Amino acid sequence: MEQIQSVTTATVESVVPGDEGKDKFKKCDQIAFYRRQKQLAGSVQYHALLDTLEVSETHAELQLQHTHTEACLLLQVCGIKGKAVRVKINELKPIRARYEVPDVLIGEPVTQRLRAEPRGGGTVTLSAEEGNFQVQVRGHPFLLEVECEGEVLVSMNAQGRLYFETLQTPPTQGVSSVDRGEGEDSQGLWKEEFKTFLDVKANGPSSVGLDFSLHGVEHVYGIPEHADTLRLKNTRSAGEPYRLYNLDVFAYEIHSRLGLYGSVPLLLGHRLGRTVGIFWLNTSETLLDIGSEAETEEPPQKKRRVVPSTELHWMSESGVIDAFILLGPSPLDIFKQFAALTALAFDSVQWAEVPVHWSDMLAHCGAGSQALPPLFSLGYHQSRWNYEDEADVLAVDAGFDQRDIPYDVIWLDIEHTDGKRYFTWDNKRFPDPARLQRHLQHRNRRLVVISDPHIKVDPDYTVYRDASEQGFFVRNRAGQVFEGSCWPGLCSYLDFTSPHVRDWYSSQFALNKYKGSTGTLFVWNDMNEPSVFDGPEQTMPKDAVHCGGWEHRELHNLYGFYQQWATMEGLIQRSKGAERPFVLTRSFFAGSQRFGAVWTGDNVASWDYLKISIPMLLTLSITGISFCGADVGGFFQDPEPELLVRWYQAGALQPFFRGHSAMQTKRREPWLFGEENTRAIRDAIRERYRLLPYWYSLFHRAHCHAEPPVRPLWVEFPGEIQCFEMEDEYMIGNALLACPVTDAGVTEVNVLFPGSGEFWYDIRTFRRFEGGTNTSVPVTLDSVPVFQRGGTIVPRKTKAGRSTACLSSIPFDLTVALDSEGCADGELYEDDGRSFNYRTKQEFTLRRFTFRNKTLSCSCADEKGQFQCVCSVERVVFLGLEAKPSAVIVQQGSGVCEKKKTFRFEEETSMLTVEKLKLKTVHSWELKIK
Ligand code: GLC
Repeated sequence: MEQIQSVTTATVESVVPGDEGKDKFKKCDQIAFYRRQKQLAGSVQYHALLDTLEVSETHAELQLQHTHTEACLLLQVCGIKGKAVRVKINELKPIRARYEVPDVLIGEPVTQRLRAEPRGGGTVTLSAEEGNFQVQVRGHPFLLEVECEGEVLVSMNAQGRLYFETLQTPPTQGVSSVDRGEGEDSQGLWKEEFKTFLDVKANGPSSVGLDFSLHGVEHVYGIPEHADTLRLKNTRSAGEPYRLYNLDVFAYEIHSRLGLYGSVPLLLGHRLGRTVGIFWLNTSETLLDIGSEAETEEPPQKKRRVVPSTELHWMSESGVIDAFILLGPSPLDIFKQFAALTALAFDSVQWAEVPVHWSDMLAHCGAGSQALPPLFSLGYHQSRWNYEDEADVLAVDAGFDQRDIPYDVIWLDIEHTDGKRYFTWDNKRFPDPARLQRHLQHRNRRLVVISDPHIKVDPDYTVYRDASEQGFFVRNRAGQVFEGSCWPGLCSYLDFTSPHVRDWYSSQFALNKYKGSTGTLFVWNDMNEPSVFDGPEQTMPKDAVHCGGWEHRELHNLYGFYQQWATMEGLIQRSKGAERPFVLTRSFFAGSQRFGAVWTGDNVASWDYLKISIPMLLTLSITGISFCGADVGGFFQDPEPELLVRWYQAGALQPFFRGHSAMQTKRREPWLFGEENTRAIRDAIRERYRLLPYWYSLFHRAHCHAEPPVRPLWVEFPGEIQCFEMEDEYMIGNALLACPVTDAGVTEVNVLFPGSGEFWYDIRTFRRFEGGTNTSVPVTLDSVPVFQRGGTIVPRKTKAGRSTACLSSIPFDLTVALDSEGCADGELYEDDGRSFNYRTKQEFTLRRFTFRNKTLSCSCADEKGQFQCVCSVERVVFLGLEAKPSAVIVQQGSGVCEKKKTFRFEEETSMLTVEKLKLKTVHSWELKIK
C-alpha cells in the first residue's frame, strides 16, 4: 500500500529513538557462545550410529557421535499426530541434568509409532502412517531430512552446524578440557565479562546449535519480538542475527534485531503451496542467523532449475535441542499445529479430574490457544503514567461521557501505590479505591492496576516480608537473596518459576488480601523481562539462581510468562473460577496467549513507530500471541494531533486497543486536540465498538481454532506472491482488509486488492473494487480505508454505546458482501462476555449466516449452545446485488410466517438495505430477495 501525501508535515522530535544507552546492550560479537559457535560452524562433524536405532511407541532414538571427541549425543525423533515432527538432542550421559523447558507445552504431544526401514547409502527411513510424512536419517555425516508427500521440506545439519557443548566438571573440582585457570577465559566458557558485569557460569559451557534448510522457501516470518519488518531479513548478508533475549529497551530502535521484551522462537516459512514452521523450544538466550541459498533441483522432466532455500542457524546458550517441525501445509494448519503443542485440546480434558489450578481446567483447555478475553477487554482502554488521583480518574471517566466517546477501562500506573509497593495504595491519592471501582462499575467500567515482579526491599512491607520469610526470591550466585534496582529503588525479585511462589502470588489477589480491590479490578504485569536497572543489559544476571538450583540463564525468556500465569491464576481464583481474567504483560514466551494480552512496550510518538506497530502485531499474531496491541499515540514524546488521530484509527483496527503515555508527556485524552480531531477519534472508537460482535467472534475462533484475529495478507492469500511482503495492509479475520494511514498529510492511498477475480467493498462508500488490482483510494482525516471481502458477512451493532456492557441491548446490523457467484458466509459467537459459563454450562450461541440463491439464512452452527441472546438483527445491508429486487420477504418458523419488508436500493452502489427487522439471532430465519 502506497500512501500519497499532499505536503510533508512529519516532524520527529529531538530524542533519537534507540540512542539512549546505545551500548547498554550487547552486539553479537560480545556474546561468547555466539563467537564459539561461529568459530566452529561447519567444522564439527557428527555421525549417526544407525545400529543404535531403537523404536518405541512414542519415538525413535539413536546415538550421534562426534568424530573427534567421540562424545555421544542421543537423538530422539517423534512423529506427532496432526503433522509435526519433534527432534530432540541431548547428551547421552550428561554429568548433570540439562534444562528442559517445562510448562510451555501442555503435556506430552500425542505421538504415533514410527516405522523404521533401512535404506541404501547408510540411511534409515522413519515413516509416520498418519499425515504421510517421513524422516530420513543419514549416518555419515549426520543429516536429518523431513519429507512430506514425497518432497523434502526441511533438512537438518545439512550445513554441519550441529553444535553441542557437553557439560564438564567445574575447573576447581577436577580435569576439564577448557582454557581456564591461565588468567583470562578468552572463550567465555566459565566466566564472561560485559562492561562492569561478570557472569560466572556454574555449569561452564553448555551451548547448543543446529542448522535447518527450508527448501524452496524464500519468505520467512515470526520469532518476535523485534521492531522489524514482517518478512525476516537475510542476516548473513548484512547486520546481526536476530536475538531472542527478553530485554527492557527504552524507545527501542526500529529495524533492529536486538531482542525486545518477549520471545516466541517460532519461525514460519512460506512458499507457493506450502507453509512450514520451526519451533525451537529453548528459553535461554537464542540467536537466529538467516541466510538464503540457491539450490539446484532436478524435477521429473530432468531439466535443472534453481530454487531458493532458506538456511537457518539457531544457537542457544544452554539447555537441549528440542525442535518441532510443523508441516502445514497451509498457514492455518501451522497455527493449529503450534496451538496443539502450547495448549491442551478441549476434548482431552478430563472433567472429572479437576486439576489443582482452576486455570488448567478453565482457561487452558481451548482446542486452540488464545484465552477467550472478557468482552470489556476488547473495548477501548484509557491509560497514562499516571492518572494522578481519584478526582483525576473521575474527571477522565466523566470526560468520555461528556464527549460521547465509548470506553471500558481506565488504568493506574505505578504511582497509585504506596511508594511502588504493589498491592498497596497511595492513601492520599486514592483514599478509598473500592469506592472508585464501585463508581466505575456503576457506569459499567473497570479499573486496571499495575503489578510488577520486583518487590521493594522493606521489612515493613507485608508482601516483601512474607516472600522473604518463605524464601520466595531469586538468589544470587553466592546464595544470598538477589537485590537489584527498579522503580521502588532496591528490590528483590519473586521467583515465579517456583509453583509455590506462583500459588502464593496468586493468593495475593484474593479480595480479602488485596485491600481496596474489588472484582472489577484487573491487572497489568510490567518490567517482567525482568527489568533490573543496574543489571547487565538492564536485566537479571544470568548467574542468579532459581528454585531447583537452575541458573537464570536457562530460563530467562520464561520469567514474564510465569508472572502472567500466576496473575491470571490469582484473578480466576478470586472469583472461584467464575469470572474470566484480564492480564496484560510486557514480557512473554510461546504459550503466553493462554494467560491474556501482550503489548509492544515503550514505543515513541512518531510516524515510524505507528508504521512498525503493524508488522510487529502481525508477527505476534502468527506466533500465537493474538491478543496484542501497541500504545496508541506512542509512549514517549507528544504526538502531533494528526498522528494521534491516525494512531487511534489504526489502534481501533488492532486486537488490544489502549491509549497510553509516559509521565513526561502532555495530557492527551481524546478531546484535548480540538473539535475536528475529537470527532475523528470518536468515530474511530465508535466504529471499533460497533464492530465488536465481529472481533469477539474472531476471538472465539482464535480460542477454538487458533486462527489469529489479525493476519498478514499472505495468510489469507497464500498463493499470491505480491502479498508475501505486504505489511501495511492486513486482514481482520477473513472478511476485512485494513489499510491504516501511517504517514502524515495523506490524501490518497494506493491499495493492493488481493484475490484475483474477487470483489472488495469499501465499508464507508460501498464502492466495489476488483481483486488483483492496485487502486488509488482518496482519504480524509476522518477516513481509514477498510474493505469487506466479497463472500463474507460481517455482524456489527447498530450503535456504539458508552461501553461494551451497553452492547448487549443494542441490535445487530449485518453486512452481506457478495462474491462473484452472488454468495456470502459469516458467523456470530455470543455469550455473557465475562464468565466461564460458555464452557462449564454451554451458555453460548454460535450462529451461521449464509447467502445462497438470493436467500440469507440464519442457522445454528453448534447445537450444544444454550445462550439466549436477547438481541435481534435490525438491519441487513447487501452489497453487490445485480439488480433492484421486486420484493424482500422474511420467513420465520418453518415457513408459517412470511412477511414482506420495505427496502431501499441504491443503483449506483448496488446496495440493498432492509431495515426495521426484528430477527432474533438465536432463532432460525430466512430473508429472501425476489
Ligand atoms: C514501563 C512500561 C510503561 C509504564 C512505565 C511505568 O516503561 O513499559 O508502559 O508506563 O514502565 O510503569
